[in-house]
Amino acid sequence: MESAGPFVTVAVGRGKYRRWWETVSRKVLIAYGTKNGSTAEIAQVIASVMRDRGLEADARAAAEVEDVAPYDAVVLGGALYMGRWHKDARRFARQHRHILAERPLWLFSSGPLDPSASERDLPPVPSAGRAARRTRAREHVTFGGRLEAGAKGRVARMILEEGRGGDYRDMNKIAEWAAGIANELSVGAQ
Ligand SMILES: Cc1cc2nc3c(=O)[nH]c(=O)nc-3n(C[C@H](O)[C@H](O)[C@H](O)COP(=O)(O)O)c2cc1C
Repeated sequence: MESAGPFVTVAVGRGKYRRWWETVSRKVLIAYGTKNGSTAEIAQVIASVMRDRGLEADARAAAEVEDVAPYDAVVLGGALYMGRWHKDARRFARQHRHILAERPLWLFSSGPLDPSASERDLPPVPSAGRAARRTRAREHVTFGGRLEAGAKGRVARMILEEGRGGDYRDMNKIAEWAAGIANELSVGAQ
């Protein structure tokens, strides 16, 4: 392996391929704030789509991530509760705002317990919008949520008793969004 300037020349098989390692985003963190687990599952789907496209992707609870520096790009998601982005997502965005502003960053929220998020683009709630501005996120998207038997909290039980629960996560839309991010991150990899 020989190197010249920002390029590293790697011998692969019979040919030599140049890879511009500096500009290629390869290791992606998908951090999430969740109460009942459905946002964590969305993060896992995003990570899996990215791995299928050759990226290294870690889906981790936002509260457990201490250092963002090892990652080249970040996706940060939070469940919506009472019109607010989950506190772990808010805290993560605040705590790591400087480094996040230097990384390619995408945000998502998951919440609506109806088909609205699949039918149109829903704007971020104010706390997610603030985080997007502070961290200079490239995009924010809202996905539908899930609320099912066993969810924590009195209000959750009331919503379920009223028959207003269900799973409104659109896995195709989530996978498409993740694939779009993977494409953006792979530009320059060829
Ligand atoms: C008490 C309570 C409050 C909620 N508030 C909102 C809300 O303000 N906006 C919204 O879109 N969804 C709201 N939801 C729906 C949740 O965001 C949805 O169930 C989400 O998928 C939960 O994510 P989690 O499983 O990761 O915690 C609420 C649900 C509960 C139980």
